[in-house]
Amino acid sequence: MAIRPIVRAGHPALREKAKRIRKIDSSIHRLIEDMWETMYDAPGVGLAAPQIGVSLRVVVIDVHDEDYEPIALVNPEIVKRSGERRLDEGCLSVPGYRGELTRSLKVLAKGLDPLTGKEVRIRAEDNLMAEALEHEIDHINGILYIDYLSGPEALVPLSDAPELKGAEVE
Ligand code: NI
Repeated sequence: MAIRPIVRAGHPALREKAKRIRKIDSSIHRLIEDMWETMYDAPGVGLAAPQIGVSLRVVVIDVHDEDYEPIALVNPEIVKRSGERRLDEGCLSVPGYRGELTRSLKVLAKGLDPLTGKEVRIRAEDNLMAEALEHEIDHINGILYIDYLSGPEALVPLSDAPELKGAEVE
């Protein structure tokens, strides 16, 4: 296992539609191990493969909630979403900033369990899991949360925020 560098907004991998995985082989298992290690080291509650520069459809999420085990999903998709809520959100690929945006209230997602290869479904409502599912699945579709902000002024710098190039916040 290895901690991999997390790429930042501006890196092309964050803007690609990541590739579907056809076969869950040992290289995918190694990738997922590295993603867990990188996510916990950051620390963060979720990580998508493009965030370590790998354009594949894999995400890992641990929301530290007794209702949800830490989960790795291959080829995850949102099946259904409904309702709206306003949230304050951040991203490991946009360090030093947070922004307010609208996310769904209820989310149903599916994906493959990398260990069994079987489909799993996750239901979440009005909690961090719902937010993480949408955020991480956005990543594998080349979307960043800053895309949903009403404008650059909606991105709020935390203390010690690095400077962002204007183009990254459009
Ligand atoms: Ni993110």
